[in-house]
Amino acid sequence: MPELNLILLGPPGAGKGTQAERLQADFSLAHISTGDMLRSQVAADTELGRKAKLYMDEGELVPDDVIIEMITQRIDEPDAREGFLLDGFPRNESQADALDSALRAHDRRLTAVLQIEVPDDEVVRRLTGRRVCVKNPSHIYHVELDPPKHERICDQDGARLIQREDDSEQTIRRRLEVYHSQTTPLIDYYERAGLLRRFDGTRAPEEVHTHLRATLATLRLEEQI
Ligand code: AP5
Repeated sequence: MPELNLILLGPPGAGKGTQAERLQADFSLAHISTGDMLRSQVAADTELGRKAKLYMDEGELVPDDVIIEMITQRIDEPDAREGFLLDGFPRNESQADALDSALRAHDRRLTAVLQIEVPDDEVVRRLTGRRVCVKNPSHIYHVELDPPKHERICDQDGARLIQREDDSEQTIRRRLEVYHSQTTPLIDYYERAGLLRRFDGTRAPEEVHTHLRATLATLRLEEQI
């Protein structure tokens, strides 16, 4: 089976994590979320976690050297050698260049960049109501748009649901500014490389999933030819 090496690109709250959880199951991809990796370092109170938290709490990007090393090691692990889905990386051109070099060094390449588009006001509505499972951050809910069956309890494993510390309106607005200034140049960057695919993220999660899944199934067929 050919590798599917994918990036999910989009603003905070676009639904990258929501869709990654579904696509990972459909295509047996390693879901690599830099945000989740950093939050687990914060929870374990490591030196990296303590450093990262200072930036995350303010909605700023964590310095490139920390992130790039973490990701270049991760995509080389056995479960990611058959294909990966990057969620939250790259977030600026120097991260994109570093990814490109790391893949080339192992004779690998990106298959596609999946851009999920959502306007800023919708991002704020989604993130202020988001709740995540304390045990598995891939289990994502929304108090109105996608509520759990029992208030504050994860449907999938019964663990407690919490609100992320960076999901306050002030920090969400800063994260959006950072996205527009530092990450949106990657849209042109990947368009020029012929890798960009656009998806309307304002549709219902299941509809977005259907579109993504159909595109990835086609890409996989094309890779086989
Ligand atoms: P990270 O964890 O990557 O956060 P983010 O990019 O801001 O993205 P989110 O996780 O907030 O949103 P999402 O798109 O996954 O949306 P979700 O599916 O949860 O990064 C956090 C921080 O870590 C950064 O600010 C930075 O400090 C640091 N960091 C991470 N990567 C870095 C890097 N590469 N370099 C430097 N620093 C880095 O959905 C959101 C909500 O909407 C949920 O409630 C969900 O139920 C709902 N929802 C989802 N889809 C839909 C839909 N279609 N319709 C209605 N509701 C929906």
